[in-house]
Amino acid sequence: MKIKLAPSLLAADFSKLGEDIKGIQSYVDMLHLDVMDGHFVPNISFGPPVIEGIRGVTDIEFDVHLMIEKPLSYIEKFVIAGADIITIHVEAPDDTAKCIQLIKSLGKKVGIALNPDTPPYSIKQFVDEIDMVLQMTVFPGFGGQSMVKQALENIPLIREMIGPNTDLQVDGGIYTENCGELTALGANVIVSGTGIFRMPNPVVAALELRKAAIAGQKA
Ligand code: DX5
Ligand code: ZN
Repeated sequence: MKIKLAPSLLAADFSKLGEDIKGIQSYVDMLHLDVMDGHFVPNISFGPPVIEGIRGVTDIEFDVHLMIEKPLSYIEKFVIAGADIITIHVEAPDDTAKCIQLIKSLGKKVGIALNPDTPPYSIKQFVDEIDMVLQMTVFPGFGGQSMVKQALENIPLIREMIGPNTDLQVDGGIYTENCGELTALGANVIVSGTGIFRMPNPVVAALELRKAAIAGQKA
């Protein structure tokens, strides 16, 4: 499956988002936007106004990762702001099937995310309806954490469940050094925040991440 890189904006410089996005956009496949509400996760990031603002400076695909307790009430606002893919957590209290239907009815791609300790079978009933699964490789809430190894066991199980044509994204603690391990297990969409935006040269970091991801896939 095609390797896709999705830098997480959470690690960019918030005083110059437009500049950071323009610097990286030709070297990556989508932009990963981490939305946190202080309820589903113990942190607050940004919401639709920021996404609408950066939509004005780039045409790159916006991959919106909703770490929020009540996605159902906000999905439409994210679509209006410019989201192309909307990922909701299976652990969120809102009805997952309803969220999926709403995102699809608005003409957008759907992802389902699961935390490192959520059993893969909890998403099984939805796999025919979705475009992407997001296996968290850290517990969501903060950038810059170390990868939780427990999550790796889920990757081959999910790949088997979704088949070869659905994207399998991994997110959290990913760098050139460990990225090949994830693609060898079956992941094909790589999120990296610290590993791209906090590196001395984000473009070089993105090129190296892609190289490592492709090498892992061939291994
Ligand atoms: C964690 C977020 C991740 C995170 C990735 O809650 O979903 O996208 O920002 O950042 P790094 O690559 O720094 O772990
Ligand atoms: Zn994320």
